Amino acid sequence: YFIGVDLGTSAVKAMLVSEQGEVSDEVSKPLSLMQPQNGFSEQNPEEWAEQTTRALKELVERFPYDAEHIKGLSFSGQMHSLVLLDKQNNVLRNAILWNDTRTTAQCREIEDVLGKERLLDITKNPAVEGVTLSKMLWVKEHEPDTWEQAATFLLPKDYVRYKLTGRIHMDYSDAAGTLLLDIVERTWSRDMCEAFAIDPSFCPPLLESTAPVGPVTEEISQRTGLSRETEVIAGGADNACGAVGSGILQEGRTLCSVGTSGVVLSYEEDGSKDFGGSVHYFNHAAPDAYYAMGVTLSAGNSLRWFQDVFAPGESIGDLVEGVEDIPSGAGGLLFTPYLDGERTPHADADIRASFIGMDSSHGRKDLVRSVMEGITFSLKESVDIIRNHGREISSIVSIGGGAKNEAWLQMQADIFEADVIKLKSEQGPGVGAAMLAAYGSGAFSSLQECSEVFLQVDRVFYPDEERRETYRALYGLYKEVYEQTKALNS
Ligand code: XUL
Repeated sequence: YFIGVDLGTSAVKAMLVSEQGEVSDEVSKPLSLMQPQNGFSEQNPEEWAEQTTRALKELVERFPYDAEHIKGLSFSGQMHSLVLLDKQNNVLRNAILWNDTRTTAQCREIEDVLGKERLLDITKNPAVEGVTLSKMLWVKEHEPDTWEQAATFLLPKDYVRYKLTGRIHMDYSDAAGTLLLDIVERTWSRDMCEAFAIDPSFCPPLLESTAPVGPVTEEISQRTGLSRETEVIAGGADNACGAVGSGILQEGRTLCSVGTSGVVLSYEEDGSKDFGGSVHYFNHAAPDAYYAMGVTLSAGNSLRWFQDVFAPGESIGDLVEGVEDIPSGAGGLLFTPYLDGERTPHADADIRASFIGMDSSHGRKDLVRSVMEGITFSLKESVDIIRNHGREISSIVSIGGGAKNEAWLQMQADIFEADVIKLKSEQGPGVGAAMLAAYGSGAFSSLQECSEVFLQVDRVFYPDEERRETYRALYGLYKEVYEQTKALNS
């Protein structure tokens, strides 16, 4: 057996996966989110560690065999969020999260200091509010006393792994999202560190996502029941783990994942491919590979917002029930999912969402359908960018919220104009983490071999010609809404 820990934004999930890839148990613990001001988004790293420990304890308590039978444990983590530690490795302040958008001025500073071109040359990624470096610069400027005391920084799952093992590391797939990594050379970028006066000792030692880091501490072993024989494997960024857990392990494979945010990502072998910063280009959790990725900031979050405001107390499952009875295009209703700004393709933290085209015949289900369509249009913009850079995308594996509803899967096929594949176990990042644990602890000779055992196709959704045309027309209008509504928020 293997354990995959998926440290998300709304919950941490620990899942137990057998050597045949069956998820035999799962424990989820909620995480609280602090949004003290518009655009601010923080979490307490101690809560991540505490809730992960509790989840592991429950999982191990329910495990019917000796804990030694759990051969490996690994992690998937929300990306970019900044954890600052002092010399004694104590947390200095709440983590500033990936979806926090307070750092627009710092992003401009990064571009001004280096010039956009040089920045892309070194990091292959644009300076968007999500990236960790912008958060460091914000702390430096607004909380100089805290910055003075900071001795090292980590990303969320690295902090949790540190609390479980006592060892400090960061893997390439997560380090790629800091904007401080030379993703091709796979070292901390001396140019970036110099340009922003970041002492190289501030950056933690790097390793592969599949590398063993040693056992859990004696204390954690006592608290959780985990054996010190269980290999702890580094783990990776949630999107990289989602890709591993969906079999995105060779060129031509593409993923669409809807969580709080949504992403479209494509496997790439060539580290020097140039997307000009229009999408992210990150190291994969699979050794020596990369992926190109576009991000919709409020994907699942848009539906959750809708449910909070218009259907409090209802589950998302209840909310989306019956959307298949609403015609494609939701009777002329259009939604743009820019509740917290947008990343791909606009890189604009200030843009806000809109509903357009309402009439008095529209009911709640029409609005729900248009929210789902709007999220999918936004993801289509990422599909388009990757296609326009020479990658043929004829099929897409869909995971997360978007794969939980058949109407939404069909909508994806119609809007993306690609076959959409639903997997039997669509646990994405958690299973990806368990696969890193399985391969990293020696149970398989490659991740590919592991994926052949772990992953099976459940159903394929094919694009329908008529609906495809309806959506083409609406998508054209959708793309115009951004420019037309920009002034509302400037
Ligand atoms: C990726 C991103 C999000 C987070 C979600 O760049 O910001 O997908 O990884 O945890």
